[in-house]
Amino acid sequence: MRLSYYLSFLSLLAWNAASQDEWPVHDNGLNQVVQWDHYSYIINGQRLFVWSGEVSHYFPLNVYYWRIPVPELWIDVFQKVKAAGPADGDLDFETATRDFTKLFEIVKEVGLYVLFRPGPYVNAESNAGGFPGWLTTGAYGTLRNNDSRYTDAWTPFFSQISKIVSEHQVTNGGNVFIYQIENEYGNQWLDAEKKIPNPAGIEYMELLQASARENGIDVPLIHNNPNMRTKSWSKDYSDEGGNVDSYAFDHYPSCWSCDLSECTGTNGNVPDFTLYDYFTNFKQVSPTQPSFLAEFQGGSYNPWAGPAGGCVNNTGPDWVNVYYKHNIAEKATAINVYMVFGGTNWGTKSIFSPPWSL
Ligand SMILES: *[C@@H]1O[C@H](CO)[C@@H](O)[C@H](O)[C@H]1NC(C)=O
Ligand SMILES: *[C@@H]1O[C@H](CO)[C@@H](O)[C@H](O)[C@H]1NC(C)=O
Repeated sequence: MRLSYYLSFLSLLAWNAASQDEWPVHDNGLNQVVQWDHYSYIINGQRLFVWSGEVSHYFPLNVYYWRIPVPELWIDVFQKVKAAGPADGDLDFETATRDFTKLFEIVKEVGLYVLFRPGPYVNAESNAGGFPGWLTTGAYGTLRNNDSRYTDAWTPFFSQISKIVSEHQVTNGGNVFIYQIENEYGNQWLDAEKKIPNPAGIEYMELLQASARENGIDVPLIHNNPNMRTKSWSKDYSDEGGNVDSYAFDHYPSCWSCDLSECTGTNGNVPDFTLYDYFTNFKQVSPTQPSFLAEFQGGSYNPWAGPAGGCVNNTGPDWVNVYYKHNIAEKATAINVYMVFGGTNWGTKSIFSPPWSL
């Protein structure tokens, strides 16, 4: 059994090696517009990876068209289909929903400031924390540190987004007054209490800061520490490298998921209406700065197989009444509620695509 498996594996290897360059390219004899070979379809000489989904109600001959019998609605579906394709090619901040600059105009019209938090890692309850799929193949080393392969991967995106946002800062007549680099990257220390630094993480933050500054960001840079334990990037806490202008952390005192069993690893199973002491942490880590909760719980997300209708009562009116007032009592003067509006991911969730083809 084992031997025959071994032999067939060997013969498969030999078969592949011998014929790799020899696969015939086929066509149907009528033209060479659509061809195919061992590897893929080819249209007009270009290989095509087919990643298709059924929208059968659009086929004129298909009996299912009655399911969306309004032709004006078809483009909406096809645009969503297109958005679900793998991203490649150049940076795209222009087409359709990728041009986010209108957001600044609307916010200005309404009369709000913007805290801009572009990543490159955002978490945001998205796959791979918002990183595009191509970054997760292993070819870019250990992500979220100073590995030059990873640096080369994020630099085009981060430079471009910084350039775009720089035009909308309060220093330029716009409304962006805070720029957060990375997210929940509390990696300044190998040991936060003993202040044993983590050089690779520090260099990463310094690279991000340099990039933001080189590309025109001149409002304060902040970072959102995950919880109070990490004590990273505060100028009041140490002179270690990588510090940002203004320290902040996030907190989810109730479970951040509607599935309470998901929270055991982070906040633990928290009894209702348990209050936390933030004041002591701010006093220790950032006494000269605003006490800043860069994310504070505004609800809980509903995971796959979560309770139908979500769990609005986990953070209902009484909860909000107690907790938001408590934050102010803890001397917080900058609080970002996560989320005020949730929305839905359409297709892949990433706004950046590789500057090279894969
Ligand atoms: C990343 O940082 C570590 C620690 O300082 C250093 O040894 C390494 O050379 C750095 N890598 C790059 C590519 O600069
Ligand atoms: C939330 O609580 C209220 C008051 O107890 C109850 O009427 C309502 O059905 C609850 N909503 C959900 C979605 O559980």
